[in-house]
Amino acid sequence: MPEAVETGVPGGDVAARHLRTPETDTPVLVVDDLVVDHRNRSTGEVFRAVDHVSLRIEAGQSVAVVGESGSGKTTLAMAATGLGTRGEGDIRLLGHSLSSVGRKELRRLRPEVQVVFQDPHGSLDPRQSVRSGLRELRTLQPRRTDWIDDTGLLGRVRLAPELLDRYPHQLSGGQAQRVCIARALLMRPRLIVADEPTSGLDVSVQADVLALLKEIRATTGAALLMISHDLAVVRSVCDVVHVMYRGRVVESGPCETVFATPENEYTRELLAAMPGARWRSRR
Ligand SMILES: Nc1ncnc2c1ncn2[C@@H]1O[C@H](COP(=O)(O)OP(=O)(O)OP(=O)(O)O)[C@@H](O)[C@H]1O
Ligand SMILES: [Mg+2]
Repeated sequence: MPEAVETGVPGGDVAARHLRTPETDTPVLVVDDLVVDHRNRSTGEVFRAVDHVSLRIEAGQSVAVVGESGSGKTTLAMAATGLGTRGEGDIRLLGHSLSSVGRKELRRLRPEVQVVFQDPHGSLDPRQSVRSGLRELRTLQPRRTDWIDDTGLLGRVRLAPELLDRYPHQLSGGQAQRVCIARALLMRPRLIVADEPTSGLDVSVQADVLALLKEIRATTGAALLMISHDLAVVRSVCDVVHVMYRGRVVESGPCETVFATPENEYTRELLAAMPGARWRSRR
């Protein structure tokens, strides 16, 4: 069984029309002066994981957050999308402030943001086949998800329909991550948050999964928030980069500018530690 199969684009033009998110001038996400503290349960000690961070993601934009392990990337992404520890500061998702939005509105907004995690097997329910997992999502959001059938959806992430009856342990890491991406895609989100989506995968399939994310972004118009400590990945996928260091954003800008002429000492160190990640002209 090959890792991935070229199946064309099942689902047809009708599905393609429904896939594209509506054009809008409203930024997908605006984070204004976010502060997130974690409290150590045993010692009661408070640790500031995100320290006065602001960022903005326009519709369809691809934004990266990079930084060393423990710099606060995941905490920032989870708080910013309303999925993790809330924190202080204003977060506007598709123009709605998360601090003032009602429950009903929040339920409506939730599917607009989909997260793809580092460990695909850890994010799938081991007791559910791919098909029954998709059925559950369809039951939760019948109208959002009726634009494509299961076979068509799997085709979009280049997986054969036979995989529908497999359980997570019967999938390779690359296949499982494609299933996670398919589940995200099914919801037609306006924002896909990808938290180290390839770092748990075999090197041989990392490039395929990245190419898939890029293609999905191009075909759906969804914005992407990519979290990574791999600058080569960021360079190949993102327009804008924010460099985090100890909970703070120490440098931001278009990838081309930041990688070619980093201003911050820490950014320079990150780049120096990643040979080949330095921006080179693609011309
Ligand atoms: N639930 C939690 N409770 C207490 N501390 C936490 C919690 N989650 C994260 N932290 C701490 O907050 C800091 C930031 O963690 P976070 O997971 O956001 O970093 P990260 O940049 O995503 O790191 P990595 O690259 O390793 O994934 C770390 O020091 C971490 O130990
Ligand atoms: Mg993380």
